[in-house]
Amino acid sequence: MQLFHTLRELRTFLASLGHQRVGFVPTMGNLHAGHCQLVTLAKQHADLVVVSIFVNPLQFGASEDFGSYPRTLASDCDKLQAVGADVVFAPAVEEMYPDFDGQSLHQQMVIQPPPLADDLCGASRPGHFAGVATVVAKLFHMVQPQVAVFGKKDYQQLMVIRALVRQLNFGIDIIAGETAREPSGLAMSSRNGYLSDAEKIQAAQLQQQLQALKQALLSGRRDYVALCDESRLALKQQGWQVDYVEIRRQQVLTLPDDQTRDWVILAAAKLGNTRLIDNCEVNVCSD
Ligand code: PAF
Repeated sequence: MQLFHTLRELRTFLASLGHQRVGFVPTMGNLHAGHCQLVTLAKQHADLVVVSIFVNPLQFGASEDFGSYPRTLASDCDKLQAVGADVVFAPAVEEMYPDFDGQSLHQQMVIQPPPLADDLCGASRPGHFAGVATVVAKLFHMVQPQVAVFGKKDYQQLMVIRALVRQLNFGIDIIAGETAREPSGLAMSSRNGYLSDAEKIQAAQLQQQLQALKQALLSGRRDYVALCDESRLALKQQGWQVDYVEIRRQQVLTLPDDQTRDWVILAAAKLGNTRLIDNCEVNVCSD
C-alpha cells in the first residue's frame, strides 16, 4: 500500500497505472469497521482502490469539533492495509486549499449544493454540505476515479454527492454502502468515540426509535407529523436533545404523501455533547 501526502505524488502514481479501473473511498480518518466495509465494496468494483484521509475544515461550523476531531493516520493505515486498499492519500490542509492563509477559508471557491442540502442536517449545520460538496469535487478531480463509494449512514450527504456527480457531469459511478452497526444496533461512526460507556449503551435508542417508526409505516400509519412528534418526544424523555426526526421520500428527501411507498426516516440528536445521526429506509410493494 502506498501513502501519499501531495497531489504531485498521487498524480505521478496514477499516471503510471494504464487502464485500470480506479475506485475511491473518501474519509476523514479515525476509521472503523464501517469504513473498512466501504473499501471492501470498492474493491469489488475496481482494479485499485484509493482512500483519502482528510479532515476537511470547510465542512465544520465554527463551534464544531474540527480541532478535536481524532487524527489517527498510523492506525488508519494499518486498517486500510489489512483490508487491501492500494493507495492512501492524506494531504495537508494547504495542499487541498492552496490559498488558505492559516486563518480563514473565505477566499475559497465553493460549490453551492441544490436545495436538498438546505434542511435536515443542512438546516442545523449551515454551510456543511457546501463544504462536503467542495472537498469531494476537489478529491474527484485529483483522484479521477471511475467509481466512488459512500456510506448510507450519511444519507443526505449521499444524495448531495449523487446530485453533484449528475449536475457537474463527473461521470463517476456512486455506490452506496450499507450502514455498519454495533450488535446493539448503534450505527458505527467516528464520533461514537466521544461517547462514555453508558452513553454508548443508551445510543442504541436512536435506531430503536427509527425501527418503531418503520413498523408504524408498515402497519399502515400515514400520519407522518404525529409519528415524528411521538418519536421526538420519546427521545427527549430518554434524555436526548433532538435536532430532527423526519420521514421523507427516498432519494429526493421531499415530504411524503399518501401515495408514497418508499420512505427514509432520518434522525439527528445529541446525547451529552455528541451529535449522532442515523436513518432507516422503508419500502412497501405497491399492489
Ligand atoms: O463522510 C465523510 O467522512 C466526509 O463528509 C467526506 C465525504 C469524506 C468529505 O469530507
